[in-house]
This record gives sequence, C-alpha cells and structure tokens, in this order.
Amino acid sequence: MSANQGPAGQQPTATYDSAFLRACRREPVPHTPVWFMRQAGRSLPEYLKVREGIPMLESCMRPELVTEITLQPVRRHGVDAAIYFSDIVVPLKAIGIDLDIKPGVGPVVENPIRTRADLDRLRELTPEDVTYVSEAIGLLTRELGATPLIGFAGAPFTLASYLVEGGPSRNHEHTKALMYGDPQLWADLLDRLSGITAAFLKVQIEAGASAVQLFDSWVGALSPADYRRSVLPASRKVFDAVAGYGVPRIHFGVGTGELLGPMGEAGADVVGVDWRVPMDEAARRVGPGKALQGNLDPAVLFSTPQAVEAKAAEVLEAAAGLEGHVFNLGHGVLPTTDPDALTRLVEYVHTRTAR
Ligand code: CP3
Repeated sequence: MSANQGPAGQQPTATYDSAFLRACRREPVPHTPVWFMRQAGRSLPEYLKVREGIPMLESCMRPELVTEITLQPVRRHGVDAAIYFSDIVVPLKAIGIDLDIKPGVGPVVENPIRTRADLDRLRELTPEDVTYVSEAIGLLTRELGATPLIGFAGAPFTLASYLVEGGPSRNHEHTKALMYGDPQLWADLLDRLSGITAAFLKVQIEAGASAVQLFDSWVGALSPADYRRSVLPASRKVFDAVAGYGVPRIHFGVGTGELLGPMGEAGADVVGVDWRVPMDEAARRVGPGKALQGNLDPAVLFSTPQAVEAKAAEVLEAAAGLEGHVFNLGHGVLPTTDPDALTRLVEYVHTRTAR
C-alpha cells in the first residue's frame, strides 16, 4: 500500500492525513495548506547552484538532482506539499519529439506538428520511457515523510500549443488555425496527447505521488464555447483515466475566469484559480463539490511585507466559506522573487488560519 491511500479498514497514513490532502478532499484542516507553483526554481540560490552548467531537460532526467531540487522549497519555506521537479514537455521529449527548453524562452520544438502525417511522431508513452521519473519519485517519497508529493503534467491544449506553434506563443495563431480549420485532425491530436498525459500521470501516481495537477496554462486564450467543443473532452479523458487511484486531481489554468464553469465539469477534484477572480466568485462559477486552489497575484510578492499580508488576508477572507481551500499563487513564482517573502507568506497563512 502506498503512502497515499487511506484504505478501508486500515489506519490512514500521516501523508493521507496531511492538511494539503485533507483540503483537497474538502475535509476539516488544522490550518490552510500552502504550496507554490514553481516553488522549486530560479527564486532559490540553492537551486541556481545545483543547476549550474546542467541544461534544464537533462536536470529533469537525473533522479538525485530532481530529488534535491524538489526538496529545497520544502526545507526552506515549510510548504505543505512538494511538487515533483520536471517540466510539462518531459513526456514529449521521452517519446522522441525533438525539443529543447531554451533559457529565458521556454520549450522550443524543432519541427512543429501541423499535419496528419506529423501525428505519427506522437507515439504512446510507456513507463520504460521515463524510468528516471519513477526512480526520483521513489527517492522523494522516502525523503518527504508525511509531506505529500504532487505529480503533474501539461494538459492536452497547452501541450498542443507548444507542438503546433513550435514554441511559446502570445496569440496561439497556428494552434487556433488547426483547431478551427481541421477539427478532426485537432481532435485526434488532442486525443493522442490525452493518452500521453494520462500515461505520464499514472507513472507518477504508481511511483508514489499523492496528488496530481494538470497544467492548462494557456487555455485562457479560448472562449467558453470553443473550450467546451475542442478541449474539454480531451482534458476530461485525462481526469477519468486516473480517477480510479483516488488521489486528488487538480486542474489549473491562467486567465480562465470565463472558463471556470466548464473547467469544473472536466472532472478534477480541485480547481486552480488565477488572481483575476476572487475565490468566493470563483467558487460560484466552478459550482459545488470542488475544492479551490489559489490565488495571490505572484507580483504582490515584490511589494512590502505589510502589503503582502494585506493581499494574502484578502485571499483568505474571500476563501473563508469554501468547501476546501489550498492557498497558492495565481500562477508560478516569478524568477526574481525574494525567497524570504515566500517563507514569510507560508508562516502568515499558517498562523492566521490555525484552528
Ligand atoms: O516547482 C515547480 O512548480 C515544479 C517545476 C515546474 C517546471 N515547469 C520547472 C521549470 C513545473 C510545474 C513546470 C510546468 C510548466 N512548464 C508549465 C506550466 C506551469 C506554468 O508556469 O504555467 C509551462 C507552461 C512550462 C513550459 C516552460 N518551461 C516555460 C514557460 C519555462 C520558462 C522559460 C524561462 O526560462 O523563463 C520552462 C522552463 C522551466 N521549467 C524552468 C523551470 C524551473 C526554468 C528553466 C531553468 O531554471 O533553467
């Protein structure tokens, strides 16, 4: 039995009983749990030190390095969950897509995917393709003790955007051209990506991840009607594929204020909210039966400690009536954030919400 499950007839483990997993399950918590998207990374000097001279994708394939980087923010900030150090494009690299992560740019794909013939390059992912992931998660769950580990993957739309554009994109014009111009090819592309994503999440859960987050970072570029028609079925397929494990499934996107309703229908247990919609309004849009995660603007951390506390208090007040609340930023930690501001924020949320 892994550390995740609190199976019938057995004592729940300390991990199962952690504030983070309890909040995801909408159970009472000793304090509001906190973690930060991109908590491991360039805001930490100890991260910059161990990454020196090692390209991003290569660092994701070294289990001992991944373990160290994943643990760094847990040690430093006392966050309530660790997030597995990797990147959304790792499974695509693992099946042989020719891509790289360029510093300061992001993922760049050598030959974009735009035709039916290109789909053949997206083969299924098997656990053998990513043995370094299972190995790292095995090491991590031993080191983490009761602290839960969040596994993650990119959602089909966001992965498709990198594959079709060939890199980061402001307007997603090639992606939308394909989505509107050849709906069948688009559906087949997203279906393949949902298979790869589901397989990648299964590897992480089976190795010991206690929760999973699906990052649909760029889906806010779509209208609700287009989201429902062209994206929701593929994301739902991913959530359905891992439902049987019983670990909380988190669904996150940026600029998704108008999509929170349909995102709530895709099947996640927890919906991530960016800073543009207050948590109480987000709860109304998502509907009952879900926990929410969010939603301090990451730029607030550049302000004074008093201002950070005041803005964090606003988030906590708006979230006070939720069925379950996981405190997070509305998007990832910005690279030049003062790490002490993050440590203080964790302490503030814990102290203020201690029950
Ligand atoms: O701490 C964590 O959150 C775990 C690590 C993590 C990374 N990428 C490490 C990383 C996670 C969860 C991701 C997910 C990811 N990757 C997303 C979804 C989350 C989001 O921010 O919306 C997206 C869109 C990507 C694609 C990607 N990879 C981008 C946009 C970048 C940044 C490019 C840059 O250099 O500014 C990357 C590279 C990347 N992934 C870095 C890290 C720490 C920076 C590379 C480095 O440190 O050398």
